[in-house]
Amino acid sequence: MNRRVLLKSRPVGVPQKEHFEIVETPVPTAREGEFVVRNAFLAVEPAMRGWVNAVGNYSEPVGIGEVMRSFAAGEIVESRHPDYSVGEQVMGMFGWQDHAVSDGRSVVRRVARDPDLPLSTSLGVLGLNGITAYFGLLEVAPPKSGEAVVVSTAAGAVGSCVGQIAKIMGCRAVGIAGGQPKVALCRDVFGFDAAIDYKADGDLGRALKDACPAGIDVYFDNTSGPISDAVLGQLNVGARVAICGTASVASWDPVPLGPRVERHLLVKRARMQGFLVLDYSRRYGEAIDQLSRWVKDGRIAYREEYLDGIEAAPDAIAGLYRGENLGRRLIRLS
Ligand SMILES: NC(=O)c1ccc[n+]([C@@H]2O[C@H](COP(=O)([O-])OP(=O)(O)OC[C@H]3O[C@@H](n4cnc5c(N)ncnc54)[C@H](OP(=O)(O)O)[C@@H]3O)[C@@H](O)[C@H]2O)c1
Repeated sequence: MNRRVLLKSRPVGVPQKEHFEIVETPVPTAREGEFVVRNAFLAVEPAMRGWVNAVGNYSEPVGIGEVMRSFAAGEIVESRHPDYSVGEQVMGMFGWQDHAVSDGRSVVRRVARDPDLPLSTSLGVLGLNGITAYFGLLEVAPPKSGEAVVVSTAAGAVGSCVGQIAKIMGCRAVGIAGGQPKVALCRDVFGFDAAIDYKADGDLGRALKDACPAGIDVYFDNTSGPISDAVLGQLNVGARVAICGTASVASWDPVPLGPRVERHLLVKRARMQGFLVLDYSRRYGEAIDQLSRWVKDGRIAYREEYLDGIEAAPDAIAGLYRGENLGRRLIRLS
């Protein structure tokens, strides 16, 4: 049987377990021009909150009763498509389900078998998370050697990669993460020069000053909210800010209020720019090639965390927003 996780009702804010249901249907078969993928890993992303909310986003909301949209990676088990063969590994938008049918358009990339770069990495450091870090840092907020680069959700899939690319570029990398285990991961595994626990008692602004005594040149913003308020006040002249995500904002309706930053950006001649990784879809190959080399050379470390079985899926997004994940969160199917 094919187990599928359907969206049962529409959440306001972060989707919880009760917004999903698991149903079983027969394993699908391919028609002419299609193939069937058996998923081995399903992705769990902060962005999924936006995909199920009715509030305006960059993609249509997932419909009630539809399979939850998600990236997944697996192996082709049946093919009637001229360009895809049985046994090939692929990563794409296959949804939260055991098996998916595709005509090729939902494939993001084919994954070569390589024991040093397992299939799961195509959903993390060598997937859209790594690619987001790569283009977001190097193209949207390009750092210069010697500059201070600050990133929020620093222990996560995107943030850990941003910090390590910043180090490769010769910068001082400073991470902000929630809790001591994440801070230790940033320092000890990902090689950040300094890491700050924003959940600890104390003044985040003070901790940032200590970590970046010469000010902040680049801010890779994954959270918005109070963390960003503390960072933006310490930007240097000519600073660059990449707006990648807004993990700390539970809902944009009503729009949350915060400090006005225009005067500060003016005085500091700073630039703030949002981006979507999809904007770079024609250049994914370039990022994957470079990231693969860095991983193989030991210059980029990655951490993955597995939830076993599709039964774990309904609560998995809420868990991300509880900050539970230590590394890239994936659902592993047997
Ligand atoms: N622009 C794009 O195209 C694009 C593409 C991919 C991802 N993104 C964004 O990149 C960011 C990181 O994604 P990821 O996949 O690497 O996820 P992740 O960082 O592995 O997981 C999300 C993290 O968000 C943090 N968080 C949750 N609630 C928070 C709160 N109230 N305040 C502060 N932090 C909170 C938690 O870390 P802590 O425990 O450290 O707080 C949690 O572990 C997300 O904002 C995501 O939406 C953007």
